[in-house]
Amino acid sequence: MKIAQLLLTWYEDFKRDLPWRRNKDPYRIWVSEIMLQQTRVEAVKPYFDRWMERFPDLKSLAEAEEEEVVRYWQGLGYYSRARNLLQGVREVNQSYGGQVPQTKEEVIGLAGVGDYTAGAILSIAYNKKEPAIDGNVLRVFSRLFCVEEDISSPAAKKNIKQLVADEMSEEQPGDFNQALMDLGSSICIPKTPRCALCPLADCCYAKRNGKEGQLPVKKKK
Ligand code: ADE
Repeated sequence: MKIAQLLLTWYEDFKRDLPWRRNKDPYRIWVSEIMLQQTRVEAVKPYFDRWMERFPDLKSLAEAEEEEVVRYWQGLGYYSRARNLLQGVREVNQSYGGQVPQTKEEVIGLAGVGDYTAGAILSIAYNKKEPAIDGNVLRVFSRLFCVEEDISSPAAKKNIKQLVADEMSEEQPGDFNQALMDLGSSICIPKTPRCALCPLADCCYAKRNGKEGQLPVKKKK
């Protein structure tokens, strides 16, 4: 069976019940992805819930004072994330009539939204076939395809992005990306992956070559 189908079947059974997965509101997905950039899932959960009580939709955030917005971020760190998010949300409110745009070019033009975040928003909220490559995905794919290049190099990232795009589900790209996030955080973990529990073990070239513990290669900066 193909990677996408194995992954989606596994996700159906094991997906985490996370507050930002309860609906596909692009604003909610956006907030969650920015919070999750440098902060762990368990730490983000209470912040996300408090945030959504105070700023339940894009307009309520766009109209808030920066000082209050930063207060709701207090404790998450990296406060430029909150300021950029506010700026991006105001851009959407003013230039896109409050609707988060649906193309890569437009979304990536918003303050604080990079390649990963744009891919996550477009795939999860709008089911667009866009990869969302973070450290977890680089690790999973470096093992699946036994990529021995340094994953911090731009060339390796480009290669892996192409591999992900080739394997992505046509019908459920958002679930595909989220399944990779879950697989990377619970099964295909750093150092000692739990291959016995992995739905992709039979198609993993690193495992076949006994290299799952050595990959990914990541040179120290
Ligand atoms: N890490 C980054 N984005 C995530 C998401 N949408 N779900 C779980 N973990 C994540």
